[in-house]
Amino acid sequence: MPVTTALYGSRPEKIKALLDDIEQSFELDEEALKTITGQFLADFNLGLSEYGQAMAMIPTFVTGVPNGTETGTFLALDLGGTNLRVCQVDLFGDQTFNLKQQKYKVSEQLKTGEATVLFDYLADSVDAFLTSSAGSPTNPHTPGELGQDPPALPLGLTFSFPVEQTALDQGYLLTWTKGFAAKNAVGKDVVKLLQDAFDRKHLHVKCVALVNDTVGALLSRAYTSGGCILGAIFGTGTNGAYVEQVANITKLGNHPIVAKGGEMIVNTEWGGFNNSRTALPTTPFDNKLDRESINPHYQAFEKFISGMYLGEITRNILLSLIDAAPIPILFKGKASDQLNKHYGLDTEMLSLIETAWMSEDAPADTAAAHAPLVPSDAAAPVAHVEKIDDSLLLDFSKPLVAAALTPLTLHRLQRIRTVLVSQLGYAAEDVTLRDAAVVRWACSLVVRRAARLSSCAVATVAHQMGFVAGLGSDAKPVGDTDVKIGVDGSLIQHYPRFEARMRESLRILVGANVEQRIEIGLAKDGSGVGAALSALQATKQGAL
Ligand code: BGC
Repeated sequence: MPVTTALYGSRPEKIKALLDDIEQSFELDEEALKTITGQFLADFNLGLSEYGQAMAMIPTFVTGVPNGTETGTFLALDLGGTNLRVCQVDLFGDQTFNLKQQKYKVSEQLKTGEATVLFDYLADSVDAFLTSSAGSPTNPHTPGELGQDPPALPLGLTFSFPVEQTALDQGYLLTWTKGFAAKNAVGKDVVKLLQDAFDRKHLHVKCVALVNDTVGALLSRAYTSGGCILGAIFGTGTNGAYVEQVANITKLGNHPIVAKGGEMIVNTEWGGFNNSRTALPTTPFDNKLDRESINPHYQAFEKFISGMYLGEITRNILLSLIDAAPIPILFKGKASDQLNKHYGLDTEMLSLIETAWMSEDAPADTAAAHAPLVPSDAAAPVAHVEKIDDSLLLDFSKPLVAAALTPLTLHRLQRIRTVLVSQLGYAAEDVTLRDAAVVRWACSLVVRRAARLSSCAVATVAHQMGFVAGLGSDAKPVGDTDVKIGVDGSLIQHYPRFEARMRESLRILVGANVEQRIEIGLAKDGSGVGAALSALQATKQGAL
């Protein structure tokens, strides 16, 4: 942790120095962005040439990108985000689809117990879904005409973990991520683990294709919008899959697919970028997170970026300010039970804080505006208080009192206070306006860094695919085609200004021309639709 001991004491300028230090350690200037992206490009090429690299650059054997004319009805099973989902997807062939889905919880016990138990649960969920849609053509228990067995229902599996794929319907788990650690799965073929579970339960379902969620995002965005070169997830985890020339995937060696040439989607597994952390701007808050995580030294990039971790990094910052000695900087040194708990601060709370801070509501109209102030916030006599600018909210040389704030700023801080009370378990009287301002500052540092790092990954793909040459002030656009990206995940979808922040640094890295050509669109239901599209490809290739 940064020095928050007696050395710093309680003097305002010392507090300022401490906060400035923290802020500085989260800053990424043009040079840093370029260095990280340069390293990213080098690691892309290393992963394309050798197996066993941290950024695995996995060939997916998906060689075509849909154009929206695909048709059929498929089952999809999606494991790897917050929930497990089973879906039935109808592709209508006119860039539209219908998706019926059911979500199931995956308990901590399932995540960390025996893999067969987890896969049995997946099979049970598919069974429950199909039973609840009894009478539909996909019911596995419907007998065939004249007593014949109907053909097995084709299912596409979206499995959002690093899997070394050897065929469209075969892939070996390299490692678990995002808090999963089920035993006896690493090194095994996940399609077989699932199929064995279906067979144990006599389910007439056949897993014909395996895709990563990023591949699903790419395929589904291509289906609905007529093209896509990168599928990216910024959610619980982060990763990207893009379209690469087969000739560049030199580690494929003499594989028969190489002779056919053309393109193949590569699942980068960029969450594992720079596990050595030589390029990533690691702070003590990140080190604490990594040390206490289920997979220390792995998924370094993901731990700077994704929804699973941003709340925890912020919690580490807040705790260091609460623990500052001899005088605490935050919450008068008091941590709520929630804040004391590992992963007790959810990234969603960061999102609520930012939303509160950006609120443009008329201050007087909201409940937050009428919330009573903490006595110290109301203390100074109104007439003698000079108004202060928002940039001075962390100026500890003056008390931060309500009367010094514009009505809008006061209202925003009050709203943040409401969030802290409802989400973090603080009593209203424990949260001063200053506390609200400090928490907002910490959240914005963590998320801004995440968005800027995300732009390095996107810039790398733009570079690798030849849309831009050079980086930073040397960046030169190549060609003039649109760069279509399909995205999914809670951060990019719901976090206020995540995309805008990402674009700010993309502009620095690839120049305004290329940044404007980058079209970022939601890969709606990407995991379900993507799995259906790959199941379609598999059935066409005769895997059934
Ligand atoms: C996994 C990827 C996945 C990403 C987003 C990461 O933890 O390793 O396979 O695509 O999360 O879900």
